[in-house]
Amino acid sequence: MRVIIDTDPGLDDAVGILYALAEPRFAVEGITAVAGNIGITTTTRNAGSLLAAMACGDVAYAAGAAGPLAGAAINEEAIHGADGMGGVTLPVPLRAPEATGATTFLAARLMEAPTGTLTLLALGPLTNLALLAREAPEAYARINRIIAMGGTIHERGNMGPFAEFNMAADPLAAQEVFAGSVPITLIPLDVTRRLRATPDDLDRLAASGTTAATLSADLIRAYFTGNTERSSRPLHDPCVMLMALEPVLFGTETMRLRVDCEAHPGRLIPAEDGAQIEVAMRIDAPKALDALWAGLSIQR
Ligand code: BDR
Ligand code: CA
Repeated sequence: MRVIIDTDPGLDDAVGILYALAEPRFAVEGITAVAGNIGITTTTRNAGSLLAAMACGDVAYAAGAAGPLAGAAINEEAIHGADGMGGVTLPVPLRAPEATGATTFLAARLMEAPTGTLTLLALGPLTNLALLAREAPEAYARINRIIAMGGTIHERGNMGPFAEFNMAADPLAAQEVFAGSVPITLIPLDVTRRLRATPDDLDRLAASGTTAATLSADLIRAYFTGNTERSSRPLHDPCVMLMALEPVLFGTETMRLRVDCEAHPGRLIPAEDGAQIEVAMRIDAPKALDALWAGLSIQR
């Protein structure tokens, strides 16, 4: 599957990226960074460093938006650390980011590829994709599908009671992407909080010895820092990659949704005139964790 990953790495982003780079069923044709968990300079560098860790110097990456379409930026530095990687050391990038920036990079790749052949895996705020839709609508319309981690349907939010971080960080971008022409599969907290790793799971993962597995185990261990009383941690963003490759692990429902940009920014509101979105509402978590661990354990 030909994919471009749009991301704000971020610990769980990093695990999803490592899985995508290890799994030969994915052809990763680029990574675009967006500000979210941490600022754009750091998320961009982390994208380059994760590619370097996997010896993927041939894969391009680009810096995207430094903040939301409107309003002030928020971040998750408290969870992901000042470096976004929880203090886990990564190699320096093998190449510089694309000089053109994310929107131009995405537009060029989409215009080169046959229509409907590139899937966007969105792991952060949807700012870059909204900008692409605004600035290069012809290229945007060529996206096969956007699979995005974000939002909550019934679960309590993680940015206040109603909103999830990726939606809250840029609700206007999310609303514009929802209302756009490209089909969207959304994976909300209702599902991503079910895919969890315990310290014992991490020992099992690290035992495989591949770079993707050992690095992921270190990154998820860092996710416990400051949350040492937790017995497990959620693996939000890797759900996007699993949905792309293993959709039978999920149960989905079609919903009409819009994104609240005012009272509770980022809250998903069911609305008759809302965008039609395929929303993952169930996951076979044990099988999904096995699939994730198996992909991270593939020797490249
Ligand atoms: C989402 O927010 C970020 O902290 C994670 O990387 C994930 O994309 C979860 O709400
Ligand atoms: Ca993320």
